[in-house]
Amino acid sequence: MSHTVVILAAGQGTRMKSARAKVLHEVAGRPMLGWVLDAAIATRPSAVMVVVGHEAEAVRASLPAGVSSCVQEPQNGTGHAVAVAMAAIGELDPDHTVLVIPGDTPLIGGETLARLVEGHHSSGAAATVLTAVLDEPAGYGRVVRNDDGAVVAIVEQRDADAATLEIKEVNSGMYAFRAGDLEARLAELRPDNDQGEYYLTDVAAGSVELGRMVRAIVADATQIAGVNSHAQLAGASAVARRAILETLMAEGVSVVDPARTYVDHGVAVGAGAILHPGVHLHGASSVGAGAMVGPDVYCEDSTIGPGARVWYSVLRSASVGAECEVGPYASLRPGTVLKKASKAGTFVEMKKTVLGERAKVPHLSYLGDATVGERANVGAGTITCNYDGFEKHETHIGDDAFIGSDTMLVAPVTIGKGAFTGAGSVISKDVPEDGLGVERSDQRVIPGYAARRRARYRKRDG
Ligand code: UD1
Ligand code: CA
Repeated sequence: MSHTVVILAAGQGTRMKSARAKVLHEVAGRPMLGWVLDAAIATRPSAVMVVVGHEAEAVRASLPAGVSSCVQEPQNGTGHAVAVAMAAIGELDPDHTVLVIPGDTPLIGGETLARLVEGHHSSGAAATVLTAVLDEPAGYGRVVRNDDGAVVAIVEQRDADAATLEIKEVNSGMYAFRAGDLEARLAELRPDNDQGEYYLTDVAAGSVELGRMVRAIVADATQIAGVNSHAQLAGASAVARRAILETLMAEGVSVVDPARTYVDHGVAVGAGAILHPGVHLHGASSVGAGAMVGPDVYCEDSTIGPGARVWYSVLRSASVGAECEVGPYASLRPGTVLKKASKAGTFVEMKKTVLGERAKVPHLSYLGDATVGERANVGAGTITCNYDGFEKHETHIGDDAFIGSDTMLVAPVTIGKGAFTGAGSVISKDVPEDGLGVERSDQRVIPGYAARRRARYRKRDG
């Protein structure tokens, strides 16, 4: 028997004090809603309907193909949101199961949701609520049971009396409903609570009053955590990050200090790689087998090849090949490609630059809009003057070329294969293959000058 999923993502998230929709705040590099959708889709539903409202367009844009959405306007509470979803879904068999999930519970696992759906199917209940027992239940709706242990109501914290507040079993906000019961109970909801909203939680008491069974399935407390504030977002992120690192470690990645390592969802790291403290791997990034990354590397949408060594550096939309060396203190900006075993060393910045195999830029250089051939060596202090104040121009350095220290390469300019430039030269004309480009005045040598100067000052000062 299949089921339909409804995800509630219309709320503003007032407690986040943020212009962005709450469900788009990220946990380990991914919107909360993305995590929830993954768990929902893992239960193999026949359809998924996301209720959007606040920042509707942005939330919609984050949805994968095959997921529908409907707009709840205004946002009159979780019960109202589900009613809007049910209207958008259209007619359902009364025995069909509707799984409702809030969009702000990023740690929920697909297997837990599957257990909720299966438990609900086998019981024939009108509703089955997923609950957890928390030491600190503050903020959650409390699950009220009678003396026989049957669920009789769910009471929101702000509507609860002192005795109810003592209850440690809380509502996860996730439920499996029999569609026929759900539709009937939604129609009866009244906004007679502290917030003046239509509460989905009231479906529980409504069903019980009619003699219909409401069951509870108790889940792991971590998985049901709802995120209403930045503090809770940070808490959920820590759990998600830790889980990502646990998986990587099980796959053979060495993580020196998991508390100080930040790997986004979807980042692949090969076996034998070592992640030192202060490593951030964000977006579409990957690290090859046996690479050494960190300490202190910020890597966004970049790849680090097998066996590479990258430390104290920033990589953005860059590609670092196998066995390359990067840093300390390198900044690789978008469009930088380091081919196999090449090097971008200390205080080196590169932008839109392709460094050939085994080429080296060891110290204090800026290369922009450039290509560097295989095995070329770029001396300390070399700069591509790629911008003339109006346009960007390219620099091309051939295989095996040797760029002397402190060369200014005034682009557009080409240095041929195997050519040299003299240290300190401002090179504005092309240098042919195997040639030398040198631009500096002849050195004068004045014997005895320093001694004469010292003598002069000695005489003056006594
Ligand atoms: C809700 C439950 C509470 C439960 C908790 C679990 C109700 C009344 N309360 O409280 O019992 O313990 O979740 O995390 O259901 N939303 C809409 N439209 C609305 C209002 C909310 O789509 O009109 C969405 C929100 O975007 C959010 C979800 O529903 O994703 C839950 O809303 P929220 O305001 O966070 O409810 P809680 O106060 O956390
Ligand atoms: Ca919530």
